[in-house]
Amino acid sequence: MRTRVAASPLPRLEAHMLWRQVLGVPHSWLVAHDDEPLAPERVVAYEVLEARRVAGEPMAYILGRREFLGRDFRVTPEVLIPRPDTELLVEAGLRALAGRENPRVLDLGTGSGAVAVSIALARPDAQVTATDLSAAALEVAADNARTLGASLQFFHGNWYDSRLGSAQYDLIVSNPPYIHALDSHLGLGDLRFEPTMALTDGADGLSALRAIVDGAPSHLMPSGVVCVEHGWDQAGAVRDLMRHRGFADIASLRDLAGIERVTHGRLPF
Ligand SMILES: C[S@@+](CC[C@H](N)C(=O)[O-])C[C@H]1O[C@@H](n2cnc3c(N)ncnc32)[C@H](O)[C@@H]1O
Repeated sequence: MRTRVAASPLPRLEAHMLWRQVLGVPHSWLVAHDDEPLAPERVVAYEVLEARRVAGEPMAYILGRREFLGRDFRVTPEVLIPRPDTELLVEAGLRALAGRENPRVLDLGTGSGAVAVSIALARPDAQVTATDLSAAALEVAADNARTLGASLQFFHGNWYDSRLGSAQYDLIVSNPPYIHALDSHLGLGDLRFEPTMALTDGADGLSALRAIVDGAPSHLMPSGVVCVEHGWDQAGAVRDLMRHRGFADIASLRDLAGIERVTHGRLPF
């Protein structure tokens, strides 16, 4: 295997990750059995994965999983690959729930369920509802909830589906599609492989954020919080949207790169 890793067009770390996937062994086994003979069918299986990676497919889709807040989430090409930046959304949401007992939480556009499942596991007393317009994404989210032992309710529908009920949530969280339809990044790197509806609203990048903030007051309890992730240049616009809808205590949080990435606001009593 050593010679194959050395000859691979992939970075060593990625080649090792694919070998681990094919052989179903931990990294320590690879290191200890570096010169172990390989069965031809294993070599073929590796070469198939390597070709996918060389073609640019994200590692997360090839491996079928991505870590988020220390847990492995199953991912398929039907869902956005959870990003480290989104951990900030979960942290902000959990902070907003501090001091609230048996809170009700709504995650709009749940994708793999990374946000909703993480909140449900951190707050077992919470009643968490997760929605998505993609039925295929909801299946992945439900599978992740089952595997990780989280109890959630799922709804298939457009943002504030009428079945969600009104004025009952303590917290609404969302990481909606917020990339401008004409942003050239949509044609680059991992984004080429992710679902378009998870990335862009097909418009100015703010339309989903607008729908979520606009609908929040009629779905939150008094003093409920709305908390959204957004693009690097959208924090000011999102704060304006929240101000316009009567939210108080509006603030934006910076990600590890120092970019305003998450904005939240509280509905007054
Ligand atoms: C940026 S992804 C976020 C996925 C996941 N919450 C995360 O943070 O990894 C946005 C999600 O919103 C969903 N979505 C797009 N338009 C929607 C709509 N009108 N109503 C509900 N969900 C929608 C997409 O299918 C996608 O799963």
